Amino acid sequence: MKKSILALLAFVLLLGCGKKTSLTEEEITTYTEKGKAISQATFMALSTQLKQAMQSGGVEQAAQFCNIVALPLTDSLSRQQNAVIKRTSLKLRNPLNAPDSMEIVMLEMYDMMSKMRNPVLVPKILEKNADEIQFFAPIQIKNETCLKCHGVLGQTMSEEDYAFIKQHYPNDQATGYKMDDVRGMWSITLKR
Ligand code: HEC
Repeated sequence: MKKSILALLAFVLLLGCGKKTSLTEEEITTYTEKGKAISQATFMALSTQLKQAMQSGGVEQAAQFCNIVALPLTDSLSRQQNAVIKRTSLKLRNPLNAPDSMEIVMLEMYDMMSKMRNPVLVPKILEKNADEIQFFAPIQIKNETCLKCHGVLGQTMSEEDYAFIKQHYPNDQATGYKMDDVRGMWSITLKR
């Protein structure tokens, strides 16, 4: 298992180095900035609404909010930005956020990097095809609030709140996280 991950990593790194074909340094900067701006705007939109829901009805209401609103919100921002905005993870809550094969490789890479002593968790750009560029960026747990719904059961996350989450996501895997852990990744497909 470890070996295959290392092989995949090597593959990605080689791909990154050997494939400097059509993307210029300038394009890489442009798309990185664009991806960053879109992911930050989406994060802001999600967390503003999440905060409001938490204030009015605690985790119970907020989890319901995520259940109903998270995907439609990213979809409408996608249309607005003329991009495809996706949040994905190796440990999913909503199966609709499942990673594709390239996203799995990138998630494994960020996961591995995060375990290093001085992790360098930076966005990456990949030429998807002639018309599309894909932007990846790790999503880290930087806020204690995240742990209320993704933390350690019985410690940072209450049994009661988790029972509620489980009602909506019976196959949930997105728990057990601590501060600074990589929870998942942005994968944003941009038009060229
Ligand atoms: C009130 C509970 C709650 C809080 C707080 C919360 N989340 Fe979530 N999170 C959810 C739910 C519910 C989903 C599933 C959303 C959906 O249906 O698309 C989710 C999905 C995600 C996903 C998409 C991948 C997946 O597993 O489906 C990521 C990434 C994520 N959360 C990160 C975070 C981060 C980072 C924070 C803190 C800023 C956070 N969450 C705070 C409940 C929460």
